[in-house]
Amino acid sequence: MELREVIGNRRSIRFMRPYRPVEIEKIQCMLEAARLASHWGNVGSLRAVVVMRESASDEVLDSLQAPIAGFQIRLAPVVIVWYLETAAIDDQANRLRELLEAGALGFGTQEARREALETQLIPIFGSIGDALKQPGLGEVDCGQGIAHATLMAYELGLGTCCLGTPHTEQIRENLGLPDSARVLLLQTVGYPAESAEAGGQRPRQDLGELFQLNAYGNPFPRSEEVIEELERDRMLQDPAPLPWREAELDFLQQALDIEPPGLL
Ligand SMILES: Cc1cc2nc3c(=O)[nH]c(=O)nc-3n(C[C@H](O)[C@H](O)[C@H](O)COP(=O)(O)O)c2cc1C
Repeated sequence: MELREVIGNRRSIRFMRPYRPVEIEKIQCMLEAARLASHWGNVGSLRAVVVMRESASDEVLDSLQAPIAGFQIRLAPVVIVWYLETAAIDDQANRLRELLEAGALGFGTQEARREALETQLIPIFGSIGDALKQPGLGEVDCGQGIAHATLMAYELGLGTCCLGTPHTEQIRENLGLPDSARVLLLQTVGYPAESAEAGGQRPRQDLGELFQLNAYGNPFPRSEEVIEELERDRMLQDPAPLPWREAELDFLQQALDIEPPGLL
């Protein structure tokens, strides 16, 4: 399947088949994809604890609180706790050296590149190390990694949903993560109980409202031809809700015994 169709097909899947465990090899594929995502300075600050319902302790399972996702956590065979390890930045200089030795960084002779790295780039990064540990660029890296993992999961027939939680500190402590860790989100993983369309493609704001060309206030022009091409390639799909979605939600609620009805 082409990347365009994968992007178009992916949905946040909130209803999982609770009886079907996920193969650990598939989770590894997700993590391998996350590991390959781009990180500033190659620091690799994205980390995760994978919690598998079939093998995790009750204590660990109970520690995964996400108030607007109660039934999702309960149904999911796997929950990935993604976090950012700020201490990774302490090893920034070595990551840059590796990049240079890999031929990814700089130009000129290797000797000149090494000299420039040691005398220019590494001191700059070293002087702003603490600032770089604050929320910002690192979260962008982590988002890229989680997106890779999400698309990999889709390719493997799995559904996922990212869940925000205000209990990040509590979860960090419960899981025994170091103080330097910043819990980002929980991602449920499982085989979807929903149909592949999951009710249709979810709404988004207008392209021109989100993105601009050359100047603030100048909406990025949206070509009809491009839209038609992306529709043909199945990246842009029928919008939600498809006519049968309400019936599907009723069916899912009963089949999965989700009580009381609502969001949680
Ligand atoms: C960082 C992040 C946090 C999210 N938190 C929640 C959440 O707490 N509960 C939930 O049901 N969905 C959550 N979502 C899923 C979004 O609500 C979802 O992306 C949105 O409904 C659009 O649907 P789609 O992903 O199928 O296109 C989150 C998504 C992201 C990326």
